[in-house]
Amino acid sequence: MERLGVVGCGVMGAGIAEVGARGGCDVIVVDAVEEALDRARVRMAASVEKAVAAGKAAESADAILGRVTFTTDLSALADREIVIEAIREAVDDKVELVTRLDTVIPDSAIIATNTSSIPVARIAAASVRPERVLGTHFFNPVPVMPLVEVVASVQTDPDVADRTQAFCEDVLGKKVIRADDRSGFVVNAILVPYLLSAIRSLQNGVATREDIDEGMVAGCGMPMGPLRLCDMVGLDTMLLVSESLYAEHLEAAFAPPALLRRHVEAGLLGRKSGRGFYDYSDQQ
Ligand code: CAA
Repeated sequence: MERLGVVGCGVMGAGIAEVGARGGCDVIVVDAVEEALDRARVRMAASVEKAVAAGKAAESADAILGRVTFTTDLSALADREIVIEAIREAVDDKVELVTRLDTVIPDSAIIATNTSSIPVARIAAASVRPERVLGTHFFNPVPVMPLVEVVASVQTDPDVADRTQAFCEDVLGKKVIRADDRSGFVVNAILVPYLLSAIRSLQNGVATREDIDEGMVAGCGMPMGPLRLCDMVGLDTMLLVSESLYAEHLEAAFAPPALLRRHVEAGLLGRKSGRGFYDYSDQQ
């Protein structure tokens, strides 16, 4: 597969489009919001230039970025072989998108959802061809993190899952693990309770945000502290993921802490809004 479509160009969508272009794909990125496309263009150019400067890209930045087209028109995806959706983590939005994709893309094209917490079967059920829908869960930052979780739903054709795994490995250069179709898959079912527990520690006054983060970096060898990681993922995304995991598993470890809700209600969404648990206003 060489013709890739990406719908939604926030941090994840832009990252997926970037690794697709670096893997040699012709990439079309679709977002309903023109400004989101502009932001993604800038983000992707900076990231590709960083990769080139670090000797991690086989081609020039111009050659890589020249394979990416940005548009607000979903019908531009009419010739795609695989479309990866990375819109916000809300089941109704994803269901609506899948029904629209059904009317646009070829019958043979694969629809992959980058959900991290919504069971794939729930999204696939909206499609008239649920056998070609599956999950591909990437990790943030996508150009740097090697993993993709490939998730077949109860209706996914095994050949669709095999072809998608081969695409992620051979074209995108990722490591793939297969996960069962349950909210959180493998990684988030383990990671999210850890991150929420760091937020609870802050909420309960156990330590300062800096000391909680330093504890996990210096004590456990984590590449970054859990509160900084929450800010990087986005606190709105953290809340949606936590609610979805809690609804599926009904385990207290997945329940969103009040402090997380308060930050989201206040518009403090992490790095992308300039402030979350930390202040990033000087980095905007
Ligand atoms: N393309 C390719 N490589 C790149 C790159 C790019 N655009 N940008 C940076 N790199 C490479 C650098 O060259 C460097 O490589 P070396 O180690 O070989 O030198 C490496 O990536 C690290 O880059 P930096 O030095 O710029 O950054 P850093 O050392 O400060 O690390 C970080 C930043 C990668 C984010 C690191 O802190 C980290 O791994 N944090 C944890 C991230 C994590 O846990 N992600 C998962 C989030 S959860 C999620 O995504 C799931 C969900 O659904 C919620």
